[in-house]
Order: sequence, then structure tokens, then C-alpha cells
Amino acid sequence: MIKGLNHVAIAVTDLAEAAARYQALGATVSAPQDLPEHGVTVVFITLDNTKIELLHPLGEASPIASFLDRNPSGGIHHLCLEVDDIADAAEKLGESGIRVLGDGKPKTGAHGKPVLFAHPKDFQGALIEFEEE
Ligand code: CO
Repeated sequence: MIKGLNHVAIAVTDLAEAAARYQALGATVSAPQDLPEHGVTVVFITLDNTKIELLHPLGEASPIASFLDRNPSGGIHHLCLEVDDIADAAEKLGESGIRVLGDGKPKTGAHGKPVLFAHPKDFQGALIEFEEE
């Protein structure tokens, strides 16, 4: 079911500073993109074999805000793994006793593709996003 790593997401307190750091090392860095429905502003760093997603809180109820309260220097927030079929992934997670966050149904993620998140307590403490590719 898992095909590969789509991206590693890092929550940052200063998006411009973080983007500049990767740019200075020669990476391809996107312009910031506001995603109000997700409560984040994102910058994508495109690498040869994967991407890094820099996340910064946007708006009042951002899911990133509490993470940055607990991790004031920022930190790795989630990994995103690619799957062929998100409905099949949801079923397999359920069969394995892994809880899916929210109502358990896939949502449209930051790349406009169907995603779901597994509960970190069911994944060795790591927040894992699954994205249909
Ligand atoms: Co992500």
C-alpha cells in the first residue's frame, strides 16, 4: 500500500528565514502559499527524491499553533507517504487497528489530493499523512 515518501513537513516560526536557509543551500524553494482551509501557510522545498514542506500557522485556529507552543524552535511535524488508493489505505489502517484522525474520511490535502492522517499514538509517536498519488 505504501509507495514512497512524498514529503517531510517541518513547522517553523519564521517562514521567510526557514525558506532562505534552504535557498542558500541551493534547493528549489516555492513562494509561500496560504491554505486558509488548513490553517497554514506553506513553502515547498523540492529535492531530487522528495520534498520538504515548511508549515507556518495561518489564522486563529491553526493546527500548527499548539505544536509550536510545545516546540518553540519548530520541529518535524509529519511525514507524508504515498499510496495508490486512499480508500483502500483507510480500510487497511482500520484493519490494523490504526486510528485515522478526524471523522476517518479522506480530506483534500495541501496538494489538492486526497489525504488522511493516522493517529501518532498508533504509529510510534509519529504523525503520518497518507496521500493518494
Ligand atoms: Co503534509
